[in-house]
Amino acid sequence: MKHYEDLTHISENREPQRAYYIPENEGAYTLLNGEWNFKFYKRDYDEADVEMEWDKIPVPSCWQILGYENPNYANVRYPFPMDPPYVPSENPMGVYEREFEITDANRNTYIVFEGVSSCLELYINGKYVGYSQGTHLQAEFDITQFVAPGKNTVTAKVRKWCSGSYMEDQDMFRFSGIFRDVYLLSRPKGHIRDIDIKTDGNKILVAFDGKAEITLTDNGTVLASGDFEKIAEFAVENPTLWNCEKPYLYTLTFKYEDEIMTQKVGFVTYSIGENYEFLVNGVEVKLKGINHHDSHPEKGWCMSDDEIYTDLMLMKKLNINTVRTSHYPPSPKFLNMCDELGLYVMLENDLELHGFCSRDVGIDKYDDYQNPEWISNQPAWRDSFMERIERMYNRDKNHASIFSWSLGNESGHGEHHCAMAKYLREKDSRRLVHCEGASLAYDVYGRKDNIENTDFHSRMYVNFKDLKDGVESEERNRPYFLCEYCHAMGNGPGDLYDYWEMIYKYPKLIGGCIWEWCDHTVMVDGVPKYGGDFEGEMTHDSNFCCDGLVFADRTFKAGTLEAKAVYQYMRCELSGTNLKLTNLYDFTNLSEYTFTYTVEVDGEKVFTDSKNYDVAPKDFVEIPLEIPEKCRLGAYVNCVLTDKTGYQVANCQLELPVTIEKAEENKNDKVIPKETANRVVFEGDGFSYTISKHSGMLESIVKNGEEQLTAPVALTAWRAPTDNERNDKFLWGWYNSWQAENVNRLFTKAYGYEICDGDLIVDGSISGVSRTPFLRFKITYTVFADGEIKVSLSGKIKERCIWLQRVGFEFKTPYEKDEFSYYGMGDMENYQDMCHHTRVGRFKSDAKREYVNYVMPQEHGNHIKAKELKMNAGLEFSGDNFEFNVSHFTADNLEQAKHQDEIKNENLTNIRIDYKNSGVGSHSCGPELLEKYRLAEKDIEFTFYIK
Ligand code: GAL
Ligand code: MG
Repeated sequence: MKHYEDLTHISENREPQRAYYIPENEGAYTLLNGEWNFKFYKRDYDEADVEMEWDKIPVPSCWQILGYENPNYANVRYPFPMDPPYVPSENPMGVYEREFEITDANRNTYIVFEGVSSCLELYINGKYVGYSQGTHLQAEFDITQFVAPGKNTVTAKVRKWCSGSYMEDQDMFRFSGIFRDVYLLSRPKGHIRDIDIKTDGNKILVAFDGKAEITLTDNGTVLASGDFEKIAEFAVENPTLWNCEKPYLYTLTFKYEDEIMTQKVGFVTYSIGENYEFLVNGVEVKLKGINHHDSHPEKGWCMSDDEIYTDLMLMKKLNINTVRTSHYPPSPKFLNMCDELGLYVMLENDLELHGFCSRDVGIDKYDDYQNPEWISNQPAWRDSFMERIERMYNRDKNHASIFSWSLGNESGHGEHHCAMAKYLREKDSRRLVHCEGASLAYDVYGRKDNIENTDFHSRMYVNFKDLKDGVESEERNRPYFLCEYCHAMGNGPGDLYDYWEMIYKYPKLIGGCIWEWCDHTVMVDGVPKYGGDFEGEMTHDSNFCCDGLVFADRTFKAGTLEAKAVYQYMRCELSGTNLKLTNLYDFTNLSEYTFTYTVEVDGEKVFTDSKNYDVAPKDFVEIPLEIPEKCRLGAYVNCVLTDKTGYQVANCQLELPVTIEKAEENKNDKVIPKETANRVVFEGDGFSYTISKHSGMLESIVKNGEEQLTAPVALTAWRAPTDNERNDKFLWGWYNSWQAENVNRLFTKAYGYEICDGDLIVDGSISGVSRTPFLRFKITYTVFADGEIKVSLSGKIKERCIWLQRVGFEFKTPYEKDEFSYYGMGDMENYQDMCHHTRVGRFKSDAKREYVNYVMPQEHGNHIKAKELKMNAGLEFSGDNFEFNVSHFTADNLEQAKHQDEIKNENLTNIRIDYKNSGVGSHSCGPELLEKYRLAEKDIEFTFYIK
C-alpha cells in the first residue's frame, strides 16, 4: 500500500486547523505564488529512475491547463477504477520547488497551502516535513525547525490521486496541482493560533489560545480595548445587525508583540420560524441563490482574488443573495468578501461520492445507510470524513455570512454523515446543518431515521408536483430548500419564474440555488472546449459542464437576466387603475431607490414619472395611473428601479387594459392570381409573388424588381435542439422529441388548391421522413393591390403527436439584408417561459446581434409577442401576435455544429415567422417542460401579413 492510500495516514505534521487570518504586521506574510521549478512524472514511481531537467511553472495553476496532461471532464463516474482506497499505480506526480528567504531565525515560520489537488508531500531543504490531502482545504505546516537564515528551498510533491480522491467526485474538470495561494507566515514565539468568535445578543464572545491585546472598533471608532487571555467578552450597545442588504461589520484587532490580526464580526442570527420560514435576525428571508464552483476559462480552477470579487459583485448585481459553495470550501477570501458584500453562504464540505451510486449500471445506490459498500459507512474511512468537516468548520467558523454548513454533495447518507452533523451541532448552535442526502433518503427511499441530521428538507431538481406535495405535507417539518434547481445549461433556464411563484406562496419553501454560476470550459485556440474534446479521456460527460447562468468569461445570456428579473426586490401589479408597487427587500426601505414608470402606447412614451417612494420592507404603495383610451398595437407601463449610481436593479412591464383598435382593413382591392402549369402567380404594381402548386409554399417574392427570397418559403416545426431538449423523450423513450416525428427531415405536400374570390387556398401536410403527416394544413393566400400578402394558416396536428418545438414559416433571404426593427418582446432573446427580463416595445437589431454564442450551438434568438417586423432592406411582416427570429444560420447549421467554430455559414439571413415556440425549461437536469409552455394544441390558427 502506498502511503497516500493508507487511511491511517491522511495527514502528517499538519497544524491543527485554526480560523483563517493573515497577520497584518510588516514582514509577517510572504506570498510564494509565482514561478516555481517543476518536474512532471507520468508515474510517481518513475521519480526514482528518470532523470529530468526542471521546467518552470506558474503557481497557482492546474497542470492539465499547462499541457502536462490533457484535461478531463467527468460528472458522476470516477475517472479511475473504484477500488477504495486504492488509486491507479500509474499515478501522475508534479514536483514543485522554489527558494525563499528567511531573515529572522527567532520567529516561527509556517507555510500555508490553500489548495492542492489531490495531496501534498512537503520537504524543506530536502528534509521531509509532512503530508496533507483534502483538495479544497487549508494545509499549514510549522517549518521553524527546518529553516535557517538565508536561502531555503521548499519542495512539494503533488500526486494526481490519493485515497481522498474517492471523496472528491464532484461534477467538474478533474484538475491537479497547487491551484490556490501558497505563503509563509513569520510569527512571534508564543503567538495565538486559533480564534473563535461568537455573538450572543449584543455580546461578542471570543475564545483564543494565548494572550493578546484586543480592540473592538466600529468604523474606526474604538469601542473597547484591553489585555486578555484565552477569553474575552465585549458588549455593544444596540449593535447594528448584519444582513445581506446591509452587511454591517465590526472589527476585532488582536495584538501580540508585533503581531496584528483582525477579524470581522457581524451580529446576525439565523433561525427557523413557526411556519418553517427562514429567518435572518427574526425577519423572513427568501434565499435567492446560486451554486458557485471555482472555474476560469483560461486557468481551470484557479481564480485570483479579483476574479472572485468580480463573481460576487456580479451576483449582487443580479439580485442573488445566497451562494452555496458547491461542492467544497472556496478560498477563505471568498468568505471575507461575502461578509463584506453581503451574501448568505451555505458552506459545503469538500465531499462527494457520486460515483458510488452508478456503480451498478442503472441502479442508484443512494440508499446507502445500510450499504456497507459505501465508504460513508466503513469505519476505516471515518477519520477521512471527520477531518474534512473539522477543517472546514475551523477555518471558516467566524464568518457572519455563513448561515448553513453543508455536509457534502451527493454522498448518500451514511454513518459518517451522522457523525459530521453531530460534530457541527456540538460546535455551533447558531447555524443550520444541510444534508441533501438525508432528505433524499427520506423522500425516495422512505428512510426516516436520519432526517434529524438536516435542518432543511433539501432536494434538487424537484418537479413542480412533487415540490408542491413535499411542501404541503405536514410530515416534512422543516424548511424546504432547493439546493439545486433551474439547471442553467445552454439556452435557459425557463422555469425560474414558476419556481418563484411557489416560493413566494409558501413560507416553508425558503428558496434555492440555481445550478450553477458559470460554464466550465477549457479554451483551446479561442474555442471553449468540454468533455470528450481531449485525447485520452477514458470517461467523460460531454458538455454537461456548460451549465452556467453566465458564460465562462462571465458575460451574460438571457437566462442571466431572467434570474435577475425573477430575483428582483420589486413587484409591480395592477390594482384597478392603480399601479401597486411592493417592496420585496427584507431590510431596506424603497426610498433608497428611484422608481420610474413610463406609460407607452404603441411603443411611444406618453407619460413618465420618477420618485423615491417611502415603502418599508414588504410593504407596498399604490400609484394612480392614467389609462390611455385606445391603442393600435398595445399599451404598457414599464417600471424600473434604479440605485444611487443609476444602475437598474429591477424592471417589470404591465400590460394596460386598453382596447386595441386595429387599423381598418381597407383591403377590398384583391389581386386576382394567374395560373401556370405548376404555379400560381399574383402580380401587381411593383410586385410579383409565386406559389408552388406542389408544395403550396411561396417560391418567389419580387418587390420592385428584386427577388427577396433565396429559397422557397417553408412551413417547419424544427429548431436546433437546446441543451434542455436533450432529455425530452417520446413513446418508448427512444427518441428525443424532434426525432419522434423526424421534424428535422421534412416533406411538404400540397394535395390540391382552389382559387376562390381571388384567394388561393391550398390543402397540404408536412411529415418527417418515415412518419405519417403530423400537421395537415390549409393555407389561404390573399394579395391586396398595395402588395400586401395575407397568409392564414389553419392547421391540425395529429392526435398522437408529441409537443412540437415550434410551428412557423421560414424565409431564406440574402445575407446582407439582416438589419431590422420590430415591435415585440426585446431586447434580448425571449421565450414564453423566459421573458421576464424583456418587455414589449420598439427595438432595432440585426442578425449578428441576435446571435448567442452558446458553447454548444443551439436554438437562440427568439422574440415573442411580436406585431411588426421590418427588415430594413427587405420584407415586412405584421400580425396580431407572432414570434420571430432573424439569424445567419439555419437549424441544421446550428445542430450540426458541436462547438462555436464549427457552424457552417451559408451566407443567408433566415427569418422565422412563427405561430409559436415551446418554452425552453431546464430539462437538461430539471423537470420536463411545464405543459403550459408546450406547443401541444391540436388546432392552429395563425394569420400574418407580408409586404
Ligand atoms: C447535480 C449535482 C451537481 C451537478 C448537477 C448537474 O446532481 O449536484 O454537481 O452535477 O447535478 O449539472
Ligand atoms: Mg455529482
